[in-house]
Amino acid sequence: MSDKAANLVSILKSQPVMPVLIIEKLEDAVPLARALAAGGLKAIEITMRTACALDAIKAVAEESPDTLVGAGTILTPADYAAAVKAGSKFIVSPGATPALFAAAKDSDVPFLPGTSTASEIMKAREEGLRTVKFFPAEQSGGAPFLKAISSPIADMSFCPTGGISLKNAKDYLSLPNVVCVGGSWVAPKDLVAAGDWAGITKLAAEAAALR
Ligand code: 3PG
Repeated sequence: MSDKAANLVSILKSQPVMPVLIIEKLEDAVPLARALAAGGLKAIEITMRTACALDAIKAVAEESPDTLVGAGTILTPADYAAAVKAGSKFIVSPGATPALFAAAKDSDVPFLPGTSTASEIMKAREEGLRTVKFFPAEQSGGAPFLKAISSPIADMSFCPTGGISLKNAKDYLSLPNVVCVGGSWVAPKDLVAAGDWAGITKLAAEAAALR
């Protein structure tokens, strides 16, 4: 395994849940990251779905030293480069394209591409990857899909994301081919809007205790 791949696996295995964050207001980014870290979720994924996402990644990288910040919703090589420049330590995408695989090869920052079929998993495997996202997890067959794929494609591991919450996270985390799950439930919109950072730390602690 390359250092880059080993680094990604160690990030993903360091906690059972990867928070997937949509940050609407830049000023929420650092307190939110700190609140999640205080609850035990130090690695976070800030999605590139809002105008302030890159600035949010930069602010967290600079001002929340306990946090390991990655970027999500990376759709193009330009997004990949911008997210790395802002300080992202890992890159997540909903799917994968040849252009993104090429960008990942050229970068020192590891890539977690989304997959949802056997062929997509095999393509990522051909690119040398052994750990991928499974997205959208619940809609694509959920834990039974990952159980079924574990025999024919035995050397791949997954970070399932999409439709996962405290209720069903253990269905995934109990599978040997799951390194962690991703989810937005640890940072609900209403708690972020209210600045209820203690409430978010509580949700993070609950999630961090899942395994
Ligand atoms: C997303 O793309 O928003 C992530 O997969 C998170 O999904 P969730 O909101 O269902 O946790």
